[in-house]
Amino acid sequence: MENTIICNCKQVSYNDIVVALHSMKSFDDVLGAFEGVQKITNCSTGCGGCYQKVLDVISKEMMG
Ligand code: FES
Repeated sequence: MENTIICNCKQVSYNDIVVALHSMKSFDDVLGAFEGVQKITNCSTGCGGCYQKVLDVISKEMMG
């Protein structure tokens, strides 16, 4: 589950996103968090098809 690839283009896993999220000092909301995670992991910079999946992972993590 944690090693599930969320972004195929950039080979970014569920866990990569979680780690990136927790390495960020602060973010205002899911979209702010997305931008940070994207900068760190390069996820969703290819075809963009994983955008919603990445957002889902982030929202799920933020809900605790
Ligand atoms: S699958 Fe993430 S950019 Fe293509």
